[in-house]
Amino acid sequence: MESSANPPDRLVTLDGVGHWFPGTAVLFDDLCASFSPGRITGVCGPSGCGKSTLLTLIAGWERPRRGTITKIGVLSVVWVFQNPHGVARRTALDHVAFPLLAQGESRREASEIALDIMCRFGLEEIADRPFSTISGGEAQRLLLARALAVDPDVLLVDEPTAQLDRQSAVTVNENLGLVASGGAIVIVATHDPATQAACDAIIDLGANAGRVGGGS
Ligand SMILES: Nc1ncnc2c1ncn2[C@@H]1O[C@H](COP(=O)(O)OP(=O)(O)OP(=O)(O)O)[C@@H](O)[C@H]1O
Ligand SMILES: [Mg+2]
Repeated sequence: MESSANPPDRLVTLDGVGHWFPGTAVLFDDLCASFSPGRITGVCGPSGCGKSTLLTLIAGWERPRRGTITKIGVLSVVWVFQNPHGVARRTALDHVAFPLLAQGESRREASEIALDIMCRFGLEEIADRPFSTISGGEAQRLLLARALAVDPDVLLVDEPTAQLDRQSAVTVNENLGLVASGGAIVIVATHDPATQAACDAIIDLGANAGRVGGGS
């Protein structure tokens, strides 16, 4: 527990959160959890149970039907989507460099930083290729690399290893750990047991929707 005498600089909490859509059953209800910097939380459960929906709520794109989500000290939330999309004719490097340019880096600095991050994911060889020519797994890692480029306070990642071979998945899981140890709050929706094993805590939206377990 955090001491009330020393409130955390940054924290995301779910308090009694429940959600459903018109035409769906209640996906989850009475969900309580807290997410702090330096920790990776996995959101697990079968297809359709509401993992991506929970990320939508945490991102603030949709309000929960019940309960509240509180963000303290959070300035930037970056979401890496389940289905990677990009701009067909722009290069892979452009995709990672763009948010750096938007932050005011020079083109040369942005390209150098972007290439450095791409190297962490083994993507340097595709740097100059148009997005339309790269594979689904490369696109997935590329968009995670782009998310890391801006050093977010909260990183939401949806099924980051779904299209990857084992070695690429290991690289992704290691990088999620590095982002967390750099001080980010990391929340990852995943079916992958290896990613779940890399998490500090698990929210299981399956049989025990609303229960939070695992980790320390
Ligand atoms: N905007 C929406 N309107 C209506 N139903 C929706 C909407 N978004 C999601 N759903 C439904 O809510 C349920 C949960 O969807 P969600 O995408 O959160 O599942 P998920 O756990 O991420 O599944 P997967 O593992 O397949 O990615 C699904 O039945 C889905 O069809
Ligand atoms: Mg999903």
